[in-house]
Amino acid sequence: MTRETLTIIDNRTGKTYEAPIEHGAIRATDLRKIRISEDDFGLMSYDPAFMNTASCRSTITYIDGDKGILRYRGYPIEQLAKRSTYLGTAYLLLHGELPTATELNDWTWQITHHTWIHENMKKFMDGFHHDAHPMGMLISSVAAFSTFYPEAKDGNRETRHLQIVRLIAKMPTLAAFAYRHSRGLPYAYADNDLTYTGNFLNMLFKTTEVKYKPDPILEKALEVLFILHADHEQNCSTNAVRSVGSSQVDPYCAVAAGTAALYGPLHGGANEEVLKMLQVIGSKDRIPEFIKQVKEGKGRLMGFGHRVYKNYDPRAKIIKQMADEVFSVTRPNPLLPIALELERIALQDEYFVSRRLYPNVDFYSGLIYQALNFPMEMFPVLFAIPRTSGWLAQWQEMRLDPEQKIARPRQVYLGPSERDYVPIGRRDAGAQRP
Ligand code: ACO
Repeated sequence: MTRETLTIIDNRTGKTYEAPIEHGAIRATDLRKIRISEDDFGLMSYDPAFMNTASCRSTITYIDGDKGILRYRGYPIEQLAKRSTYLGTAYLLLHGELPTATELNDWTWQITHHTWIHENMKKFMDGFHHDAHPMGMLISSVAAFSTFYPEAKDGNRETRHLQIVRLIAKMPTLAAFAYRHSRGLPYAYADNDLTYTGNFLNMLFKTTEVKYKPDPILEKALEVLFILHADHEQNCSTNAVRSVGSSQVDPYCAVAAGTAALYGPLHGGANEEVLKMLQVIGSKDRIPEFIKQVKEGKGRLMGFGHRVYKNYDPRAKIIKQMADEVFSVTRPNPLLPIALELERIALQDEYFVSRRLYPNVDFYSGLIYQALNFPMEMFPVLFAIPRTSGWLAQWQEMRLDPEQKIARPRQVYLGPSERDYVPIGRRDAGAQRP
């Protein structure tokens, strides 16, 4: 019978160690017993960007990056995008099963009836400069929620559930308020007759009409985009939520940390960068020159490449298919033909082929968001809204994991060894440097 263990020989000492393998992983703490001497701290693994380190065990999202597979709780993303709603998907992520009709009605009712935010939040929003980036406003205002709901620190089941409902319900309101503030428009309140995405469009774009009627194609497009962005296992922002949340801070602060991580151009900010890149390229005939510059190391092809997907990102495939439907009711986006040609050329180019760089979710999402009339600064905000359900599912799983302690990585120290303090008058380079 094969043993599910790993045998390690330490060539420094000649000693042999055996580490159990469980679910395809060894425990990094098992390396600690590998020591040269008694006062040695033990062997560590060095992995600054978590390239091959599992930070948790999870039952939420499965990705096979080589095959381009993404599943939430076992359900393929293609089926969810076609047949589920965003709130049904959020329920699945959080509860582990698809809701029954009664469960979905109840869940939708709860979310719908928590969309309003405290009136003081408007004063908070008003404090931002007119040109403040909405993502900065979102990060700060979601963190500010922790001051409105101090009970959120309690970890009991009911309190946890209430904060989850509040966060999923109120993120679109904060996002819409941030948008309207930057436009100098009066804030618009939620309409409980509308769907989650329909109401979001209402809070963003309602002007003088008595009842805002969202375009059903755009409402549906946003629904699909929200499903596609709901979770993506241990990505940068989710890792931030888990790491900060492991200190047992309230979920508003943990989600603020995730939102901050998402703001970065290598993560949720990438679709904004894609549009800027397409604008700089300007026309199809300038694509070869642009590709040449990327290959020379002068910038990246934004919206291409992924830490996990070494194949076409399945989310990008769905968004690309959806583009035609959206553009049938909006103005066609003149950047689309440039994007399609850029993809075609890159996918034939040895540089991208050999590095297995394919379009990721951000390559086409920005084009659709732009067609839906969103300014570029809103793109990462549109990512943060649906990702909130994924963050919270992961946060909840982390809080209920009996093995989870405060996240606290180790380090490989390469600094000076102990040395004596040098008084300021004697600090010439020779006195200080070894
Ligand atoms: N354009 C050009 N070259 C690239 C790109 C790109 N978009 N992405 C990776 N490469 C190259 C790197 O230069 C490197 O080449 P080398 O081996 O010759 O040094 C190789 O491919 C591997 O790249 P890494 O940066 O090591 O890969 P990593 O897994 O760390 O990065 C990342 C993944 C950050 C997504 C990267 O592909 C990237 O910067 N892409 C552009 C930004 C982007 O689209 N981000 C959105 C990701 S999806 C999301 O967050 C929702």
